[in-house]
Amino acid sequence: MTQEELFKVLVAHCKEYGFIFPSSEIYDGLGAVYDYGQMGSELKNNIKNYWWAAMTRLNTNIVGIDSCIFMHPRIWEASGHVGAFNDPLIDNKDSKKRYRADVLIEDYIAKLEEKNNKEVEKGRRKFGESFDEEKFRQTNPNCVRNNEKMEQVRKRMADALNANDLKELRQIIIDCEISCPISGTKNWTDVRQFNLMFATQMGSVDGEANTIYLRPETAQGIFVNYLNVQKTGRMKIPFGIAQIGKAFRNEIVARQFIFRMREFEQMEMQFFIKPGTELDWFAKWKENRMAWHVNLGMGAENYRFHDHDKLAHYANAATDIEFNFPFGFKELEGIHSRTDFDLGNHQKFSGKKIQYFDPESGENYTPYVVETSIGVDRMVLAVLSHALREETLENGETRVVMAIPAPLAPVKVAVLPLVKKDGLPEVAQKIMNMLKFDFNCQYDEKDSIGKRYRRQDAIGTPFCVTIDHDTLEDGAVTVRYRDTMTQERVKIEDLPALIHKEVDLSVLLRNL
Ligand code: GAP
Repeated sequence: MTQEELFKVLVAHCKEYGFIFPSSEIYDGLGAVYDYGQMGSELKNNIKNYWWAAMTRLNTNIVGIDSCIFMHPRIWEASGHVGAFNDPLIDNKDSKKRYRADVLIEDYIAKLEEKNNKEVEKGRRKFGESFDEEKFRQTNPNCVRNNEKMEQVRKRMADALNANDLKELRQIIIDCEISCPISGTKNWTDVRQFNLMFATQMGSVDGEANTIYLRPETAQGIFVNYLNVQKTGRMKIPFGIAQIGKAFRNEIVARQFIFRMREFEQMEMQFFIKPGTELDWFAKWKENRMAWHVNLGMGAENYRFHDHDKLAHYANAATDIEFNFPFGFKELEGIHSRTDFDLGNHQKFSGKKIQYFDPESGENYTPYVVETSIGVDRMVLAVLSHALREETLENGETRVVMAIPAPLAPVKVAVLPLVKKDGLPEVAQKIMNMLKFDFNCQYDEKDSIGKRYRRQDAIGTPFCVTIDHDTLEDGAVTVRYRDTMTQERVKIEDLPALIHKEVDLSVLLRNL
């Protein structure tokens, strides 16, 4: 299966098994808005719990808050979002389709990268074991030409974005002969800026004075509560404030399922520090966040850092943690050194003093901030796309299994009486009643045991517990493991400890 096919299978699987549904589906859906079903919301909650605990429980100097989506409109002027939270858009005059100019150029670069990968595969086939990929990429004339082209286009694009030079962005599209994927023509409009914030009205009177925005990031709710938290929590710098919540962006290019949505959820942490220490903290948080990801066991090789060519309006250093999604390495999380841009501007716009008195040095200063910001939905997509696999078994049958890291799995244990009679369901119910206080369990007595195992594999349940006639004699059950499909007999009273050591969040946290 190609990665593209795998992605289509994933989207269909998510719908079929209650992970993710298109929003408003009976009304034909709403672009780039998705609902989480019974499995998806459990998975999402587990991810959020892992993040929240790693931030606020493992770090005694980080506390969590929950601020509102609606905020005073001046906040978005102070933060720079009214003036600068824009994407450069371009229309194709024939298809009338709208694109992000930078995304068109990035796709062009990705195609060159793809061409190089194909050359490498040809080389590998030709030279066999003696093949040296790095040398090949540096010397093969086609690869060298593509590398130079990619480098040149990347630099031109970064310069154009940094200088806000929309004419140059269009010129790159023309020079690279990029055509519209729908019409196939190169009949492009000028590039224009498009603000990504959703606006609405507060109160009953229409008009500009009442215009408020749905927050495009949760971070500002943290900045405007900085003084409240610092004072009431008697926090000493360095300290952090964490928050999980919804954010909204009117994305021009909304595609790739839940990768880019118009309504999504963020997990953000602002770490307040002394000016001048930001690059040290930036390095520490890069390491910390990478460790959080790798700890899930989805393969260190599936993550990489990507430093930003174009810094956001608030940052003096920024990097992404990229994940190897089915459509390539893409941003999963951002880590930004935001200087005192936000607190400084809120001080200016609100007229309120936002300063920290450092008891050690006796100085007053506006704290600097290092931020970590990850999209919950992107994390869900990373987990699901890594987990889904189709396996051919020894007997030639296939099974679809979601190898979700056990502590994140929506259902931890399935309790399955072998047959619906002979007192087995009653014992199964007793086991459910024993386990349900600690683990999310599912009871299932319908269909053959094989079919029930497959259903649990498809939603990623790490343990199936089968109650059979021997259980009535020996007080033991068969535990079947999702990934290996191996089975073992376990005493009923030993079940909680066995399950606990695989699925409990504390197990993950201890490894950090
Ligand atoms: N406060 C900084 C900030 O919002 P960002 O890089 O724009 O930075 C942070 O967003 C993270 O939020 C991204 O790494 C991504 O995981 C997630 N994110 C951003 N836009 C998104 C969208 N339209 N749909 C889903 N997730 C999104």
